[in-house]
Amino acid sequence: MPDHPPLDVAALRREYANLGLDEQEAGREPFTLFRSWLQAALAVGIAEPNAMVLATVGHAGAPSVRTVLLKGFDDRGFVFFTNYTSRKARELADNPRAALVFPWIAVGRQVTVRGTASRLTGAESDEYFATRPRGSQVAAWASRQSDLLSGRAELDAAVAAVAERVGQDPVTRPAYWGGFRLSPEEVEFWQGRGDRLHDRLRFSRTSEGWRLERLWP
Ligand SMILES: Cc1cc2nc3c(=O)[nH]c(=O)nc-3n(C[C@H](O)[C@H](O)[C@H](O)COP(=O)(O)O)c2cc1C
Repeated sequence: MPDHPPLDVAALRREYANLGLDEQEAGREPFTLFRSWLQAALAVGIAEPNAMVLATVGHAGAPSVRTVLLKGFDDRGFVFFTNYTSRKARELADNPRAALVFPWIAVGRQVTVRGTASRLTGAESDEYFATRPRGSQVAAWASRQSDLLSGRAELDAAVAAVAERVGQDPVTRPAYWGGFRLSPEEVEFWQGRGDRLHDRLRFSRTSEGWRLERLWP
């Protein structure tokens, strides 16, 4: 290994401000608190607070993770968009169970979600695709996300070919590009606190509605 300045990862440690999270504040369902935490993350200027890490399960139970952007949420679940031929989409087609983490480290918080993903309708994906910048729309047509690429030149040529083909016409959504909604069975809110005595409150979906429980930190 080449020489590097010393970096003592084990000594990296942070004491969290003693902001608490109690059952009353959590409310009766997870989406109101989620909205308020997302707003707080935005307010302190976290870069891309809607970035979330998505875990899927592949062949033989092997997990894989990547970051995607939350593009909508309501009591049905959390929505993101991607290429339906990508690894994540192929894994979700085989096994729709998935998990998310919103790592809002700068405010000492995380939200984790476990649930089941399903594709949005074509009409829902069309509606979002129409709002994307033109460059992203063109890129979606050129995209073969997660396939092997011979070099940057192949990508540039594919984008140029699409741009020439569409000219000034409106760009419609490719059938292989669209959204997923992850419908949660569990949503856990983690609030960092002093001495590692953090607050963890977990909502679980039951036939009677959402159940709220506290977990040991
Ligand atoms: C901040 C950030 C946001 C991203 N947002 C998306 C997204 O919304 N959709 C997407 O398909 N990929 C997004 N990506 C790229 C993915 O992390 C990933 O590289 C890509 O989707 C291919 O993943 P896969 O091969 O596991 O399917 C984002 C990456 C970063 C770092």
